[in-house]
Amino acid sequence: MVHFAALLAFAASLLPAAALAKLKPTRWHTNGTYINNATTAAADPYVRWDQNTGAYWAYSTEGADSGWYFAIYTSPDLATWSKIPGGAIKSDSANIWAQDWWWAPECYYNEKTGWYFLFHAGRFLNQSKVAEYFKYPDFEEASKIGVAVSRSPSGPFVSIADRPIDYYPFDPDYDDVNLLMQPPYLVPPASHEAGETAPKGTYIPSIDPNVFWDDDGSIWLFFSRNAYRNWVWSDEFGKYIEESNIYTVRLDDAWWHDPHAKTLPTVHKSFRDVHQGAPAGWTTSVNASFPGPTRKDGWVPVISYKLQPQVWENAHVNDHAASGGSLKDRRWSEGSTTIKRYDSNGSPVYFLTYSANNYASPDYGIGYAVSDKVSGPYYKSGSNPVLSQDASRAIFSTGHGSIVASGADPAELYYPHHARPSPSSSRHLYTARLFVEPDLLYLGFGTDAGDLRLPLGVAPLSIKAEPAASANGSYEVVVRSASGAKFDLANPINRVRVEVAGAGASATVDGPLVNVDKNGANAKGQTTVRFVYERARSNATLPWTPVSQVRGIGEGDVVDLTISV
Ligand SMILES: *[C@@H]1O[C@H](CO)[C@@H](O)[C@H](O)[C@H]1NC(C)=O
Ligand SMILES: *[C@@H]1O[C@H](CO)[C@@H](O)[C@H](O)[C@H]1NC(C)=O
Ligand SMILES: *[C@@H]1O[C@H](CO)[C@@H](O)[C@H](O)[C@H]1NC(C)=O
Ligand SMILES: *[C@@H]1O[C@H](CO)[C@@H](O)[C@H](O)[C@H]1NC(C)=O
Ligand SMILES: *[C@@H]1O[C@H](CO)[C@@H](O)[C@H](O)[C@H]1NC(C)=O
Ligand SMILES: *[C@@H]1O[C@H](CO)[C@@H](O)[C@H](O)[C@H]1NC(C)=O
Repeated sequence: MVHFAALLAFAASLLPAAALAKLKPTRWHTNGTYINNATTAAADPYVRWDQNTGAYWAYSTEGADSGWYFAIYTSPDLATWSKIPGGAIKSDSANIWAQDWWWAPECYYNEKTGWYFLFHAGRFLNQSKVAEYFKYPDFEEASKIGVAVSRSPSGPFVSIADRPIDYYPFDPDYDDVNLLMQPPYLVPPASHEAGETAPKGTYIPSIDPNVFWDDDGSIWLFFSRNAYRNWVWSDEFGKYIEESNIYTVRLDDAWWHDPHAKTLPTVHKSFRDVHQGAPAGWTTSVNASFPGPTRKDGWVPVISYKLQPQVWENAHVNDHAASGGSLKDRRWSEGSTTIKRYDSNGSPVYFLTYSANNYASPDYGIGYAVSDKVSGPYYKSGSNPVLSQDASRAIFSTGHGSIVASGADPAELYYPHHARPSPSSSRHLYTARLFVEPDLLYLGFGTDAGDLRLPLGVAPLSIKAEPAASANGSYEVVVRSASGAKFDLANPINRVRVEVAGAGASATVDGPLVNVDKNGANAKGQTTVRFVYERARSNATLPWTPVSQVRGIGEGDVVDLTISV
């Protein structure tokens, strides 16, 4: 038998010294794992790796303390999260413009200016403001996109201005059937002919921002046209169905480069006011006591059922009848994220993930589409949905995630998203591996369930035990990732176990705090305490295992994450 390490040594000996020097340093591997066990409440999570702090940061619609919008969590490993007290935006801070529906925050960092930008959706209730942005003071669900800034990924973020971004998306072709309907706007016209009698044209309420930077320096805002007020006639079903769709628009880049982060994003001139004058004869129906918008900006449709129907997106198209008339017939596409890769011919492939069906239903799921241009057309994958509920493993309503590259080089991709451990529980943060293969136009996920290995770049971990100031037998244990990020030892999926040797000695563990009772003077000098870092496992009969790590394959010893004092 030839030993594997010996083979490696033989291969290395054939290489000249210069080539050897170019080999990447060997990677550290750990046998530490994580389980997605729903310990962190979160919705619509956006996660980024932050070089400055060596940690992952998650931004969530839900989970903030009262008096704050959006929860922030930080993690060394994409699995054990610590909550930042408060939230992202203080509700009494400057420039608060939205009254409610603070949804789907995403954070981007400009390393040249040192500013962190938090994009998010919010809704106007103030009728003057609704009219100012949507023409009608009683426009249903007047959502817009805003942006707040901070010098730190932990916030607090403060809105750049007391208003949403400077963008007035307008659809000149829409039959505004809402103007034929009565509140609560559940019953649209029964025929296409009746719907076509409606006044044409509407402003578009927008949610779920995702900003994409292309290689040519152009900046694109992907967003969802809020389902409200978007009744689309379906020949297939013979009725109107209210839909959300995904659109994109190019942004001007002055805001991104502003060293003071005081410039509100505005739409690129190629999309600005392009629908002015359309539809012909369109007049204001705004109550004259309110101001109305004057601009009619453009957008590009990216994902909609009409562009490319897929059956899995139809989970709610008959909800009106099924609910005895209390729900609308609906169809959603929302929560998109776009990344770019190159195939082996050097041609670009844009991958866009999106969520469909109702976020509260177990059927909420994730599909993807591809394009060779940022603004499309995008083609939905025939494999959709590529991530969806798995009742056998107790995972429901998988959706609205984001794509994060791990801190390792080369990076691994992950898709933190929300899901539910039961159809009725609230949304929690889950993390799955993401695999993208541009030559095959393939995008797929690793499993959500079971024991999943830690992302590359987390190892080597380090462990320290600091005696408490009083030196009375108390210790604080600190476990850190390779980049120095601290593990939250109070998180239910990791812990420190303590082994005490010495007559009558014992220890109690409370998160990172360990109290050792040396049983009085008789044990003095004879007590050894060993701290072992352990991770929770999915196997209920063996719920914890110690973590070890190794440098490369066959190099050196396995290093347990233990320390003795
Ligand atoms: C998560 O894992 C911890 C540790 O095994 C366990 O105590 C807790 O009950 C789990 N929670 C869920 C929701 O499975
Ligand atoms: C609503 O908006 C108008 C116009 O900006 C403003 O004057 C008014 O104070 C706002 N009302 C409330 C209750 O905030
Ligand atoms: C316009 O709005 C004002 C303020 O809500 C209201 O008093 C008035 O009746 C409205 N006028 C019309 C024509 O609807
Ligand atoms: C040691 O002191 C710390 C405070 O410094 C206290 O929290 C802890 O309970 C004490 N431990 C023992 C074993 O007395
Ligand atoms: C769980 O762990 C026990 C004890 O090591 C083992 O006997 C059993 O096969 C494991 N179960 C599964 C499903 O891996
Ligand atoms: C990791 O390695 C340690 C030390 O060898 C071992 O005790 C533990 O069971 C291993 N964990 C897993 C998940 O294999």
